[in-house]
Amino acid sequence: MKMHRYEKIWLGLGTTTLLIFLIVVGISAFYMGNQPPSCAVTLNPDKVDETEPFNNPGLREIGDNEYQFTIVAEAFNFDVGTDDKVVQIPKGATVHFQVTTKDVLHGFEIAGTNINMMLEPGYISTYTNTFKNAGTFTLLCNEYCGIGHHMMYATIEVVE
Ligand code: CUA
Repeated sequence: MKMHRYEKIWLGLGTTTLLIFLIVVGISAFYMGNQPPSCAVTLNPDKVDETEPFNNPGLREIGDNEYQFTIVAEAFNFDVGTDDKVVQIPKGATVHFQVTTKDVLHGFEIAGTNINMMLEPGYISTYTNTFKNAGTFTLLCNEYCGIGHHMMYATIEVVE
């Protein structure tokens, strides 16, 4: 079979691109340890208020500049453990988020960071992030969840 030269070039480009993508995904998954956000841990969505650690939401120091941040979402609020919904995190801190929802599907996005999870009733969504830059970040719901969807937000201040 005779192939046109352009066809060979095009085929070569396609194969090379595919190989590059596979290598990037492979290194990211197996060398850098990037995994999809976990939804493997379950809890009873009707008993969130009685279930550790969601009975006491908020930021807790668990190590040297390392924190556990427990958050409960419900229509139409993020319970981050403070009355004014503002949480301060020291710059450079590593924060382990663990989040769940009491009622319906919500989104969990911290604008300007890589943190973007879906919250499903009955599941615990987790993500670990190191806040390298100081600033004010908005935590918001990015899944339409009802009439008060636009009111679901909190503020995270990363301070020096
Ligand atoms: Cu919660 Cu939109």
